[in-house]
Amino acid sequence: MVNKITVVGAGNVGATTAQRIAEKELARTVVMVDVMEGIPEGKGLDQWQSAPIEGFDARVIGTNGYEEAHDSDIVVITAGIARKPGMSRDDLLNTNAGIVKQVSEQIKSTSPHAILIVVSNPLDVMCYVAMKVTGFPRQRILGMAGVLDTARYRAFLAEALDVSVRDIQAMVLGGHGDTMVPLISYTSVSGIPITQLMTQAKLNAIVERTRGGGAEIVKHLKTGSAYYAPSSAAVQMCESIVLDQKRILPCAAWLEGEYGMSGLFLGVPCKLGRSGLEKIIEVELTREERDALAKSADAVREPMGAVKL
Ligand code: NAI
Ligand code: 2OP
Repeated sequence: MVNKITVVGAGNVGATTAQRIAEKELARTVVMVDVMEGIPEGKGLDQWQSAPIEGFDARVIGTNGYEEAHDSDIVVITAGIARKPGMSRDDLLNTNAGIVKQVSEQIKSTSPHAILIVVSNPLDVMCYVAMKVTGFPRQRILGMAGVLDTARYRAFLAEALDVSVRDIQAMVLGGHGDTMVPLISYTSVSGIPITQLMTQAKLNAIVERTRGGGAEIVKHLKTGSAYYAPSSAAVQMCESIVLDQKRILPCAAWLEGEYGMSGLFLGVPCKLGRSGLEKIIEVELTREERDALAKSADAVREPMGAVKL
């Protein structure tokens, strides 16, 4: 357990993340910050009142300012607008860049030693905004996307094979968008290569469904985007850091030569421990996967170049 975890944005992803963190007792105090008057206070109080029933001792607090968030160990940034049907993640670029900039300035002055987990979209570019504004080292800025995209991929595979989701090992790398790269060469079921269990055509269909996994949910919800699986993903990253689990999870990290690329955030296998990003693991990729990762990096660089700070 750490002393304090702050979640900025008390909307769908933020509030669910705060509740999951509290239930797992990852921090003594969980602070939710949002600009909407009354919303974080009300949700915080409501969540805390579930503590006697759920049996957790974390104190959840909601607020409009950063005073209570002072000296947080971890800050999860979920502030921003979410997608509506027909919108791409990049459509959110300018609005969310302004929001993440303002939030990052506050974090820099009130929690200068925090580890940041960025969730706001477009994810890879928002990580860049947070890094530019805070000046935090890459060990302390991570983006949540790969854990979610991989969970969707694993869920679809488990359903198609009629096996437990627990037995699907997989990893989705690249940017959090249509160009994401599910690694077929590292997909297995209890160690059995997926290509021995499924036809290529079926696998291709699942890869495509994974790429459109976020949009599929937006289409159903109509007024917002996914939040149950996204909050689970953000909390899995928090847990690995807080408990120093050193899990290898696909996260957006700032590349400095890994995979032959530099100067951008991209989804890669990361070891997460108490100091944040402890190592980027470089795995061998097939030529196809390497090309797909390079294409995905180009898709991240374009909006990154357009963002005004
Ligand atoms: P939401 O609309 O339910 O919540 C966003 C909250 O941010 C609102 O309560 C709003 O008042 C707050 N906010 C806006 N400006 C703020 C500021 N300056 N300071 C503090 N709070 C502020 O949206 P939801 O569904 O929670 O999604 C949040 C973000 O996360 C969106 O950008 C969405 O696209 C992204 N997302 C990313 C995922 C990923 O895999 N990286 C997955 C799911 C969502
Ligand atoms: C998702 O993948 C909207 O990025 C969000 O659900």
